[in-house]
Amino acid sequence: MPKVSIIGAGMTGATTAHWLAERELADLVLVDVLEGMPQGKALDMFEAMPIIGKDVDIVGSNSYEATKGSDIIVITAGLPRKPGMSRDDLLTANAGIVGKATTETLKYSPDAIYVVLTNPLDTMAYLAMKVGNIPANRIIGQAGILDSARMRAFVAMETGVSVENINCYVLGGHGDEMVPLTQHSNIAGIPLRDYLPADRLEAILNRTRKGGGEIVNLLKTGSAFYAPSAAIAQMVEAILKDKHLIVPCAAYMQGEYGLKDMFFGVPVQLGRNGIERIVEYKLDADEQSAFDKSAASVKETIEALKNLVKLS
Ligand code: APR
Repeated sequence: MPKVSIIGAGMTGATTAHWLAERELADLVLVDVLEGMPQGKALDMFEAMPIIGKDVDIVGSNSYEATKGSDIIVITAGLPRKPGMSRDDLLTANAGIVGKATTETLKYSPDAIYVVLTNPLDTMAYLAMKVGNIPANRIIGQAGILDSARMRAFVAMETGVSVENINCYVLGGHGDEMVPLTQHSNIAGIPLRDYLPADRLEAILNRTRKGGGEIVNLLKTGSAFYAPSAAIAQMVEAILKDKHLIVPCAAYMQGEYGLKDMFFGVPVQLGRNGIERIVEYKLDADEQSAFDKSAASVKETIEALKNLVKLS
């Protein structure tokens, strides 16, 4: 059985384990700094396995040693932004957490593939790659599947068509400047641009860009976790089953789309070696300018990180 370790057993980490256990995809380890919490969640989840008839080990720990020999490491550990905390404070705090999670897990699983979720996502994936000296194919940020799924959900609500018929692609950085594509996104092959009136489409794009905030405003004490964890589970499944699945993810750019030395949301093909290739879409002028704007915003956060934290 493959082994997947999830660092950060909070809402997203634990729910990721839930999706993975239900699909009997891998033995699971939950690691968190909170004493007893990952152990308690893991035991509770394992006690559900006889009911659903799935044979997977689920272990909780406060120590990284438990992650030994993992095929995939998922990093969801992080702090939410608290009142009075600046963006830079959050960046420094999460950089410390993600940096440690990376170096500690690498000691026990030097060949693992990393899936990073902690925000600011594109920058945290960049940090993990640099501190761990991880090859580009083995480090992937989760954002695009989630943002695209939100767009698909909103299109389904608007049209009443099955979510299975709705294919949407949201590229770019995981922030307000994300780039929902309307030419490549389609309903059963019909471009969204042709299917929906312009004003309805625009409303969906706006709601997609603010999708994370909409959930935060409703929950009040946390952020989204069902859809983010489902997105991680899809990535993990694609890797473990060597599916060669093309999905939008944050990947290290080495000239693709004219971008270099940064993580950015693009369509990637996922298989047993992680990122097998980056797919380059032809963008029209509007999409390209939105893409450039989003890239500039991600670059800015990476530069801020470099000013706050020493990277090799
Ligand atoms: N090592 C391991 N776990 C840690 C560490 C650390 N150094 N620091 C914090 N954690 C744990 C927390 O104890 C908490 O259980 O990370 C977990 C984060 O879980 P939640 O607060 O429930 O947050 P969640 O909704 O799961 O989101 C996780 O994803 O959306 C991003 O950056 C955002 O921090 C958020 C992360």
